[in-house]
Amino acid sequence: MAHPSIVILTGAGISAESGLGTFRDEGGLWAQHRIEDVATPEGFARDPELVVSFYNTRRAQAHEAVHNAGHDALARLQHEHKGEVLLVTQNVDGLHEKAGSVDVVHMHGALDSALCGACDHRWPAPLKMHVGETCPKCNQPSARPDIVWFGEIPYHMDRIEQALAQADIFVAIGTSGNVYPAAGFVQMARHVGAKTVEMNLDPSETVALFEDTRPGKASLTVPQWVDGILTS
Ligand code: OAD
Repeated sequence: MAHPSIVILTGAGISAESGLGTFRDEGGLWAQHRIEDVATPEGFARDPELVVSFYNTRRAQAHEAVHNAGHDALARLQHEHKGEVLLVTQNVDGLHEKAGSVDVVHMHGALDSALCGACDHRWPAPLKMHVGETCPKCNQPSARPDIVWFGEIPYHMDRIEQALAQADIFVAIGTSGNVYPAAGFVQMARHVGAKTVEMNLDPSETVALFEDTRPGKASLTVPQWVDGILTS
């Protein structure tokens, strides 16, 4: 196929070599914090200070972090591949953009964005958010991190499903396959006959559904795979 349509899904593993902790690896974020406390609307209602401070810390870490060869290779693919490339990420760290990627689909939100819990308006988040900041549009003290929490619906699902329905290749990179709907994308891609590729350090929960699995660090496997696509 001359110019295959490609859908890429990335997870925390692609940013691990940039020094950002993953969620479920040993010592990962979910070993240090309870999901119910820091990543649910109920947790935010109970203790907004804790939640805002959790994401302030993550925002500061992401701000300092530098993109790695995995992010760089995907940016190169987006710029040089002649077919469609949709880059979907579960990451909120902004490293794909730092690497030069454009039009990144942030299905779980973004640390550099604030969201009004009252009117859904969005604006650039300050490096340090405070509880009760007012929305610049409706003036309610309802600012929150623009992160999709457990129990909320991921963003841009229509666009992602449309791209998957036309995909020739689906690639999952650095994601453990624990969180739906992202973990179900491989099934959707298989359904339309797309070639499926997993690049992960350890086999994911859904590894059996992928035709081609490339274990290893994303900084090595992703550039190699991108070279293959661009020279085929
Ligand atoms: P996880 O922490 O669940 O999984 C990270 C995966 O990356 C693991 O399977 C690791 O084996 C792999 N990995 C680690 N280092 C790697 C490297 N250098 N190269 C390649 N792979 C590597 O993170 P996600 O799957 O992204 O959601 O988690 C999905 C969602 O769960 C997150 O978006 C977040 C979390 O709860 C919300 O907060 C809503």
